[in-house]
Amino acid sequence: MNRTDIENIEINLLLEAIFQRYGYDFRRYARASIERRVRQLLPKCGCATISELIPKLLYDESFFAPLVHEFSITVSEMFRDPTVYRRLRETVVPLLKTYPFVKIWHAGCASGEEVYSLAILLQEEGLYDRATIFATDFNDAALDQAREGIYALETVQQFTANYQQAGGIRSFSEYYHAHYEAIALDEALKRNITFANHNLVTDGVFGEMHLILCRNVLIYFNKELQNRVLQLFRDSLVRGGFLCLGSKESLLFSAIQTDLKPIDEQARIYQKTTA
Ligand SMILES: C[S@@+](CC[C@H](N)C(=O)[O-])C[C@H]1O[C@@H](n2cnc3c(N)ncnc32)[C@H](O)[C@@H]1O
Repeated sequence: MNRTDIENIEINLLLEAIFQRYGYDFRRYARASIERRVRQLLPKCGCATISELIPKLLYDESFFAPLVHEFSITVSEMFRDPTVYRRLRETVVPLLKTYPFVKIWHAGCASGEEVYSLAILLQEEGLYDRATIFATDFNDAALDQAREGIYALETVQQFTANYQQAGGIRSFSEYYHAHYEAIALDEALKRNITFANHNLVTDGVFGEMHLILCRNVLIYFNKELQNRVLQLFRDSLVRGGFLCLGSKESLLFSAIQTDLKPIDEQARIYQKTTA
């Protein structure tokens, strides 16, 4: 048995320990990414080997927050992949407008940039007052930041360019106030958003959604876990509801491929056709 095989055993034991001690299940995350994260975590926790980290995590809860921080990549931006928002505006919003109210779930919302982007889009389309948005993540620190809606000033240029490319019809500066080195998003955008902790691996469905967005999250999961989560989304959608995934994620060859039809394969927008 070589060093890699031994490290493999250590990682299995570590993931099992995290699951049994804290209920967070990383056992079906994409292995290469987990290995990379664990290696980065070791020096930060003062450990030379993975085996040294296991008892620290088991006996001292203060080691868990840095681990979640390391394992959850929260990179995001407003109107990320602007054409996706343009396509949502053109193809999905007109159908959402036919409902008396709309329920939307942003799964893996990180620090909220995507959620506020959609809130702006819905407001511009006259749909926001009829919308209820559930925005979830398993990372409490990211959710706190999302609730605040405060972002670094240096992000504004990128956010503004994305907003314009996404087909924004006003000036992006109407949606925030600049305070020193930060921007605070307009409080009115938060009115219909509920931020909550939800773990896609272990928690259940959100009922009767008209639109679910889960972008750049499934890439961190292995195929088996991707299928579990996609089934959760299918079961959370109304018939005719929409699912929007990230640019590197697809329903092709997934367990729910026959339950949803592609509306725009390039923008990764699908519609549920079954009951
Ligand atoms: C790269 S961010 C994507 C943010 C946003 N959706 C976007 O595309 O800009 C991935 C997010 O997925 C979240 N995540 C990872 N595993 C999760 C799980 N099991 N349940 C809920 N959220 C999870 C992470 O905490 C992180 O905030």
